[in-house]
Amino acid sequence: MTDNSRSAATVEPSAPRPSSFGRVMQAILVVVALLQVILVATQAMLAGIGLDGRAIGADLHESNSTVVAIVGVVQVIAAVLWWRPGRGRGAAPLLAAGLLLAVMAQMVAGQNSVLAVHIPLGIGILLGSIWLLRIALRRQPSST
Ligand code: HEM
Repeated sequence: MTDNSRSAATVEPSAPRPSSFGRVMQAILVVVALLQVILVATQAMLAGIGLDGRAIGADLHESNSTVVAIVGVVQVIAAVLWWRPGRGRGAAPLLAAGLLLAVMAQMVAGQNSVLAVHIPLGIGILLGSIWLLRIALRRQPSST
């Protein structure tokens, strides 16, 4: 495999060997991070429906924001447990915590209709969530 053909499935020789608990936590984090990517992308879609003048879009955008925040908390817990004691990547809890703070700021910006912050921050949260999913998907060396 050449450098150019590296994929998310590449095993990094320098990465720490995970425990079996770590592998379970990594799988849980992949599921939670994937769910978060879908929820955040849905937020953009619901916002569009709301801006189209249909109240259901705005209502669902508001209720889905609570789901995004709850999943954000679960994501932090899963990322921390994957890191320690699971011996996973330390970047995951850092990014998950940053994303949770960004979601909180996003809710405040939305409630105050500060769209100049809300829309770019929404894009940033989506990109950050995809990045976290990529980190969680990267394979680590087998512990056996
Ligand atoms: C993490 C993702 C997001 C969260 C947690 C979130 C949260 C919120 C919240 C809590 C509100 C206030 C709802 C209300 O009080 O009625 C809101 C409003 C809004 N959001 Fe989001 N949002 C997110 C992403 C997005 C994205 C990606 C877009 C657009 C691309 C967007 C566009 C809007 C618009 C247009 C409003 C209405 C603002 C107004 O009433 O003037 N949001 N959002």
